[in-house]
Amino acid sequence: QTEFGVQLFLMSCCVCSSLSLSVSSAATFVVNVTQSSYEAEENHSITLEWTFTTKTQGSYRELFIYCEANTDHGVFVLYHVHEGVEIPDSQDDQFSGRVQSDKDVLREGRIRLHVSRLRTEDSGLYLCDVKTEDGFNSGRCRLNITAAADQIQTQRPTLTPEQERGRWIIIFIIFITVGLTAFLMVV
Ligand SMILES: *[C@@H]1O[C@H](CO)[C@@H](O)[C@H](O)[C@H]1NC(C)=O
Ligand SMILES: *[C@@H]1O[C@H](CO)[C@@H](O)[C@H](O)[C@H]1NC(C)=O
Ligand SMILES: *[C@@H]1O[C@H](CO)[C@@H](O)[C@H](O)[C@H]1NC(C)=O
Repeated sequence: QTEFGVQLFLMSCCVCSSLSLSVSSAATFVVNVTQSSYEAEENHSITLEWTFTTKTQGSYRELFIYCEANTDHGVFVLYHVHEGVEIPDSQDDQFSGRVQSDKDVLREGRIRLHVSRLRTEDSGLYLCDVKTEDGFNSGRCRLNITAAADQIQTQRPTLTPEQERGRWIIIFIIFITVGLTAFLMVV
């Protein structure tokens, strides 16, 4: 029975220490967004930025970053760093050739992603998960891409069937009026 008591004691110790460990790392390691929402026009470009806790001395030995876009058309990877090395192959076709990262600012704890030739379907929730030996956290921001203004203006207004019928009735009335006037004049 004492053996069981000791085991129970050890188990609760384990649970307690792992709990306090996860709480303290969650409290000290953060990922922030510099802006929680962005607005941009189609075909323009934008720079999204996240910041994460850096060490007071040196840089991280382990650095894992995973950034993805959660859109109406699916979830797409736009940036991936594995053990401090960028993995361009992980990027989805949706973003290929459109995302430029600033690798120099990574050691300052900044993820800067320049996304160009924006499409309306890029709109969505952008999130970056960051993991280092200090902990794990993630930050998210919203991106809203609006269609270019000139494209909206050049779109022809489409008529409803009622409007279409109304147009034909007006043309018919004009035709009859003109015809009748001509007939009366001849008479
Ligand atoms: C994250 O945001 C909090 C609150 O604004 C701030 O105190 C902290 O310094 C920021 N940390 C980083 C790494 O940007
Ligand atoms: C996106 O921007 C448009 C135009 O400014 C606005 O009408 C719409 O509500 C925005 N959508 C979101 C999800 O913020
Ligand atoms: C955006 O770029 C695409 C491809 O280059 C082009 O076809 C489209 O007309 C452009 N749209 C606007 C509104 O400039």
